[in-house]
This record gives sequence, C-alpha cells and structure tokens, in this order.
Amino acid sequence: MKTRACLAAVFAALTLAACGGDSEGEGEATATPGQPSAANGQELFTQNCANCHTLAAAGANGQVGPNLDDLRPGPDLVRTQTENGGGAMPAFKGRLSPEQIQAIADYVAENAGAS
Ligand code: HEC
Repeated sequence: MKTRACLAAVFAALTLAACGGDSEGEGEATATPGQPSAANGQELFTQNCANCHTLAAAGANGQVGPNLDDLRPGPDLVRTQTENGGGAMPAFKGRLSPEQIQAIADYVAENAGAS
C-alpha cells in the first residue's frame, strides 16, 4: 500500500525524496510511462517479452515465441502483435500504455538481428 502510494507520488511529481529515501531504487525497475526511449524500450522488453523471445541485444533467450533476431519484425508488426497478442502470446493492450508499446516496437525493430 505504502509503496503504491509512493510510486504514484513519483509519477505525479517526480519527487523521489518524498518516498523517504528507503525504497532502494525500486522506482528504477518501474518504467516511467510516457517517456519512450531506446533504454526504456529495452527495459520494457526485458520485463515483458524476454521470457518468451530471443533478442540478443536485450540479452533475451526465451524459446516460447519466434526468435526476433531471425524474424526481424518491423515496428508496425511488433506494435500490432504486442497490442493484440496472437497464438500463445498474450495481448499487452491495457497492461502497457500506447507509448510503452511504441517504445518496445521501435526498440525491437532497431535491434533485432543487430548483434
Ligand atoms: C508468453 C510468451 C510470450 C510473451 C510474454 C511475448 N510473446 Fe511474442 N510471441 C509469442 C508466441 C508464442 C508467438 C507466436 C504467435 C503465433 O504463432 O501466432 C509470438 C509472436 C511474436 C511476434 C511475431 C508476430 C508475427 O506475426 O510473426 C512478435 C513481433 C512478438 N511476438 C513480439 C513480442 C513482444 C514485443 C513482446 C513483449 C511485449 C512479446 N512478444 C511477448 C509468445 C510470447
């Protein structure tokens, strides 16, 4: 409860100090909505996709879904698939914001097959 209120405060005001400073970087692991960036995309990928997909750039070696380094999907495919799911893959619409999904899509499209 306390942590939840604390995180809400962080998102609202970006005042980590208001949390009493004992969260030990907990906020770091939580993606900040509405701030797409390459780093954010990688973090989101690691949190949401790495269990099932291989993507060398993210150090991911999941085997449930297709290897994204081989597939090299474009951003539109990643975004559509992430929003709606398909096959054994869950839909992330409602769980991730459109900005977060776009950040993942850009990240995957830019990095798949790159390393
Ligand atoms: C529970 C395992 C699981 C998770 C988590 C998961 N996927 Fe998938 N993904 C799959 C499976 C299985 C398929 C193959 C779906 C099919 O056969 O239709 C797939 C397919 C895909 C495809 C290919 C779609 C196509 O039409 O070829 C992309 C791109 C993709 N996933 C991206 C992602 C991204 C990005 C995430 C994280 C937001 C993610 N996946 C999370 C299991 C997963």
